[in-house]
Amino acid sequence: MGGLIEFSDGQEIPQLGFGVAGILPENTQGMVEAALDAGYRMIDNASIYKNEVEVGRALAKSAVAADDIFITSKVWPLDFGFDNVIKACHKSLADLQRKQFDLYLLHWPAPSLGLYVESWKALIELRKLGLVKSIGVSNFYPNQLQELIDETGVVPVINQIELHPYYQRRDEKKFHNAHNIVTECWSPLGRATCLEDDVLVGIAQKHGKTPAQIVLRWQIEQGNVIIPRSRNVGRMQQNFDVFGFALHDEDKAKIVGLDKGLDGRLGPDFDLEELPND
Ligand code: A2P
Repeated sequence: MGGLIEFSDGQEIPQLGFGVAGILPENTQGMVEAALDAGYRMIDNASIYKNEVEVGRALAKSAVAADDIFITSKVWPLDFGFDNVIKACHKSLADLQRKQFDLYLLHWPAPSLGLYVESWKALIELRKLGLVKSIGVSNFYPNQLQELIDETGVVPVINQIELHPYYQRRDEKKFHNAHNIVTECWSPLGRATCLEDDVLVGIAQKHGKTPAQIVLRWQIEQGNVIIPRSRNVGRMQQNFDVFGFALHDEDKAKIVGLDKGLDGRLGPDFDLEELPND
């Protein structure tokens, strides 16, 4: 079973969850049911993934008690602004058939809109209203995190960012650690781009594991929360089977050496990204 990571507000989050980004709505209910069967107890959602209704059906049908499943959702920047964020949260709660989210995030800062501080204030309000337990952000850079802290005095409990062996973001992680912000990694497997790397293949052979399991184990040992994605039940189960072994110091040193800095980034620079119109 996976471990738990404690937030600065005292709540705990399962360290390993299932990410449903990119799963087609028609496949979502079955994949979430299979993930719960495999032992996953944290599901990472967002309104923009357009499958919250289907995740909600899987949750409602599940024999696992609602309180035992940690649910995250995120508000997309087209819904930024104080009142819109409150509305968006109500809609996601209804779609996911929940009364309260364990964690609710601003999906990315969309700086050109100039609305992320106001939207952060809405998350603070949602927490006061009891609609969400913990609040955080995604794809924020340290200067934007600092701005939220300076403007409101409320520190996000988590920042969900792209992070994997080819893009390790050690300075940003240091900033998170200094402010008690948990680092959560999207694309923790680097969208599978690193899985044929000789270094990871070698470490995997030594431990009798797959390269994906080595990467996920490394992430866990770094203290990161991770939400690997898979559209395949076997790989999704494999990705949960990462708790019965430990990496050696020499393995970790080799993985540090894989970092390509910004050249390893797969997603956009969220300061420059244009807001898609849907
Ligand atoms: P698939 O959906 O066919 O399993 P990330 O979470 O870093 O974005 O990575 C997702 C990608 O990694 C998907 O292309 C997924 O493909 C692939 N993937 C997920 N788990 C594994 C695994 N255990 N072995 C190989 N590829 C994997």
